[in-house]
Amino acid sequence: MTKIIVANWKMNGSGPFIIEFFKNFSPNSQNRIIFCPPSLYLKDVFFHAPMIGGQDCSPYSSGAYTGDTSAVMVKDAGCQYVIIGHSERRQYHKETSETVRQKAEQALKVGLTPLICIGESKEIRDSGKAIEFVLEQLSQSLPAGTDKTYYIAYEPVWAIGTGLTATEHDIVQMHQAIRQALPTQGTPILYGGSVNKDNAHAILSLPNVDGVLVGGASLKYEDFNHIVAFSEQAMI
Ligand code: PGA
Repeated sequence: MTKIIVANWKMNGSGPFIIEFFKNFSPNSQNRIIFCPPSLYLKDVFFHAPMIGGQDCSPYSSGAYTGDTSAVMVKDAGCQYVIIGHSERRQYHKETSETVRQKAEQALKVGLTPLICIGESKEIRDSGKAIEFVLEQLSQSLPAGTDKTYYIAYEPVWAIGTGLTATEHDIVQMHQAIRQALPTQGTPILYGGSVNKDNAHAILSLPNVDGVLVGGASLKYEDFNHIVAFSEQAMI
């Protein structure tokens, strides 16, 4: 099965960085490699990579929302995808699951595939209520009554950018619970949180892991090349 590899560059990169990166990385994998650079660089990256995604979009279609980017604008920049509800947006921009759902609905309306992020904090993991919490967050964040495709990314908040990853057992358990809770069979479920060249192959080989959302390691072309190569081995 095709694996989905998403590079979330967050607020990193520059014009020269993009040129250097794509001198050393050519996205000709059989897998789905989706680059999500900062919105001002979407068109620069689109020049090198056929599949790109935004990192966010507005819950509104247009209007007086200074600094925001609508779903249709993300689409016009060449995107097929958009990350929605990343924990950094939930945390630093106080986005609720209700807002996340509205954003996902805007994305679907204009023909983008939203990649909806969910995940528990360390406190919730330690309290033993991670599955309960994530399933509740999932049900509140999902677009209402649609048969259009969206992706889910399970990203434990405590694993993002920390070098800590969930255990294989915890990933399998959570992905299975998410799979059972999703209304549509075959919805891709990605794992994210400190995915790197050393753990990518093992994670991509787990049941119900259809891909990975990679932050830090997607900014290093050597590491990202390795992750893409592993994704091909994990396809069988
Ligand atoms: P990380 O980020 O790989 O640097 O942990 C993942 C993400 O936030 O999507």
